[in-house]
Amino acid sequence: MNLEEARGLLQEFVKSEKIRLHCRAVEVIAAALAKELNEDEEKWAIAGLLHDMDCDLEPDVKQQARKAVEILKERTDCGEEVCHAILAHNESNTGVMRESRLDFALSAADNVSGLIFAYGLMKKTLDGMKVKGLKKKLKDKSFSASVRRDLILDIEKAGMELDKFLETAIGAMQGISGEIGL
Ligand SMILES: [Fe+2]
Repeated sequence: MNLEEARGLLQEFVKSEKIRLHCRAVEVIAAALAKELNEDEEKWAIAGLLHDMDCDLEPDVKQQARKAVEILKERTDCGEEVCHAILAHNESNTGVMRESRLDFALSAADNVSGLIFAYGLMKKTLDGMKVKGLKKKLKDKSFSASVRRDLILDIEKAGMELDKFLETAIGAMQGISGEIGL
């Protein structure tokens, strides 16, 4: 499966504009991380783009990710690595634990995208966002409280320092600021 086919699947299964935008943000962050870590950019982008593709079909968060992987296995040749990362991004419900670099990167990207978006909304723009400011928001657990800080900090298990991760994620989201409307 290539990225274009993945976009088709997202259009087919995700009707909510909010979820599509979230998926797009996680896509660009995952791709930027792959580039930094010399991993497969397209594969990581696909995992980012499709990690929540069953959110509209499966409102019960406990079941999410399983349905996505079911569809992916039936319809695509996206491979075990992508499926594993998608299952592991909901590890507390699927029981599939994060193991690979992609697993850790996807879960960190998923959560940091929410933090950057909330911080951007507060500042009304992503322009000029700095690692230092974002780190303060990361430490302030009352800010965007649903963001899983532990999953962000685990980026080090993918072989990347936290500061580098935050810088990369901010840059990736700034690259699509027009789409996000910030
Ligand atoms: Fe997500």
